Amino acid sequence: MKLFFSPASPYVRKVMVSAHEKGVAERIELLDCAANPVRRDKTIVASNPSGKVPTLLLGDGRVLFDSRVICAYVDAQAETPRLMPEGGDARFAVLTLEALADSILDAAVLARYETAVRPKELLWDAWFNGQMEKIDSGLDALGENWMALLSGPVNTGAIAAGCALGYLDFRFPDKDWRTGREALANWFAGFSERDSMRRTMPHG
Ligand code: BEZ
Repeated sequence: MKLFFSPASPYVRKVMVSAHEKGVAERIELLDCAANPVRRDKTIVASNPSGKVPTLLLGDGRVLFDSRVICAYVDAQAETPRLMPEGGDARFAVLTLEALADSILDAAVLARYETAVRPKELLWDAWFNGQMEKIDSGLDALGENWMALLSGPVNTGAIAAGCALGYLDFRFPDKDWRTGREALANWFAGFSERDSMRRTMPHG
């Protein structure tokens, strides 16, 4: 398996944390690329029209994207630990937790692009603030409704939440998301100690 990769991407981190948890990380070759929302990397676009990372190339020519699909594929590469329950209510709970965490990530990445990529004269404060409000609503929901699933056996939803919180610390170090969300903050402190999280610290 070959993965178009950025060491800063929280979506790539979801995939790599999953791969470490499943014990298959060494089977993934990381392909350097220059994913950018404006200057799109044509090498990725040739395989994935969105030009985004993560994009996974399989040995038989198939291409998988986005992070949710690749995480499901990685989960299927080894029996245990099962990161996505096979069926029933448990499956839909983990899928919803993953979607909630991804919605925090989506807003955080858009807010990051707004300050890091968009020319200053084109900044739109109301739009930026709207993304930050989405992040806060999502964090509140994680702390209020999802602590039990986060605290149970490792699963794809918890991995996505860990990567979302890690991305906030990485790109928004001044954002005090912990105050008033102590249970979530404590959970993240413990989850960050996992080998899979330590090996995938974002940089770049
Ligand atoms: C970042 O540098 O923050 C980033 C890189 C790739 C995807 C998303 C975010």
